[in-house]
Amino acid sequence: MSTVSAGTLGAVAFSGINSFGCSAASGNLAVLGGTPIRQNKTWPSWPYVDDKVIQSLTETGKSGVWCRIQAGSRVPELEKRFAELEGAKQCVVVGSGTQALHTSLEALGIGAGDEVITSPLTDPGTISAILSARALPVMADLDRDSFQNDPDDMERRITENTKVLMPVHIAGTPCHLERVMEIAKKHNLIVIEDSCQGHMAEYQGKKLGTIGKLGCFSFQTSKVISCGEGGAIIGDDEELMDKCYTVQNHGTNRQGRTVTIGPKYRMNDLEAAILLGQMDGVEERFARRNENANYLSERIKDVPGIVPQKKYPGTGRVPWYLYMMRYKKEHFNNIDRSVFVKAMNAEGITIGPYLSQGLHREPWVDHVLDLNVYKRFFSEARLKQYRDQLPLPNTDKVTGEELLMIWSSGPFLGTKEDMDDISDAIIKVYENRDQLLSL
Ligand SMILES: Cc1ncc(COP(=O)(O)O)c(C=O)c1O
Repeated sequence: MSTVSAGTLGAVAFSGINSFGCSAASGNLAVLGGTPIRQNKTWPSWPYVDDKVIQSLTETGKSGVWCRIQAGSRVPELEKRFAELEGAKQCVVVGSGTQALHTSLEALGIGAGDEVITSPLTDPGTISAILSARALPVMADLDRDSFQNDPDDMERRITENTKVLMPVHIAGTPCHLERVMEIAKKHNLIVIEDSCQGHMAEYQGKKLGTIGKLGCFSFQTSKVISCGEGGAIIGDDEELMDKCYTVQNHGTNRQGRTVTIGPKYRMNDLEAAILLGQMDGVEERFARRNENANYLSERIKDVPGIVPQKKYPGTGRVPWYLYMMRYKKEHFNNIDRSVFVKAMNAEGITIGPYLSQGLHREPWVDHVLDLNVYKRFFSEARLKQYRDQLPLPNTDKVTGEELLMIWSSGPFLGTKEDMDDISDAIIKVYENRDQLLSL
């Protein structure tokens, strides 16, 4: 079947605007001079600020207690609140998600000569954390529907040097964690969950970050709980969590003895005050995003070629940090994703790819493999094999052609009408996809 006929069939099956319940889908696309679906409207702003946040910040500012080693610091209070929120026994907060991941690795004794398997579709901070420990980041390929690590590919990449699996819960939606945990058990590996995007996400009745040995979070500005820059580690193993505290405190333990190697990654009280100021409303905002995202998914469920991110069994509510979709161009006259993006943006909906390419294609690979520490700790054969295994065909498809995302921390706190604008724009572009052929 040619792609044109597939599109034609789609038009028959979903003939006219009523089959999508969308009255705004007719007419010229805005990219070709038509009227945009959304104009002169704003999304709820982000990061989240209200009077409680300002009051909390002001009080801490006036108090002069700005550092966690001062008496009266509120940082431990934040650690308690965040551990409770995520259902973990303990929490250590730090200056960023990257720092949380690096601290976790150091606390577990991961270093030169060790390998950590992770995703190429993540923030550079994930890779940076592994490199900061001088371990080797090994990137496993993706599932093209979930954009998460394919656990089978993770398993294939295990070597005698592998110590840690660091799956990334991309968009804050759980990866195939059950399989990842099985693989870790079988090969005696530690799991550190990169939950930097996954605040309060639910999986098999637990919260993300509590299933692996340690879970790491980011409070960077765009995240659903944010303070500009910040991060947290959660875990149930008290001895290990104590080590995390020590590592992020320049190697100095809670008793004041300097006992190990560690950077100084302490969170300050001004950051903690912003986070504490927003704790009261996080559940409510989480619920609102879930309501809106589910409504949007329902509205677009019959649009051929736009498929919301696949969720694995056991996935409950998620934070909707990013709303991700797979674009299947065969349903859009084989038109490139970039043209779809242009058409959507002209309709007033900001949408785009997450990364233009996977992190396996960034220059750090060449740089790092040429460093003495890696040449000294890994055999020439292993470094050659590493290079040979770098092609990640699914990741290239996902980043280069298929992944679409909407930043949703703020926008999904909006109204149903806001969600209608997104779905109407998608439906309008789909219904009028033939017009895109002229672009
Ligand atoms: C999946 C993931 N991992 C790691 C990080 C690093 O966190 P941070 O930016 O707080 O250092 C981020 C932040 O964007 C992230 O999204």
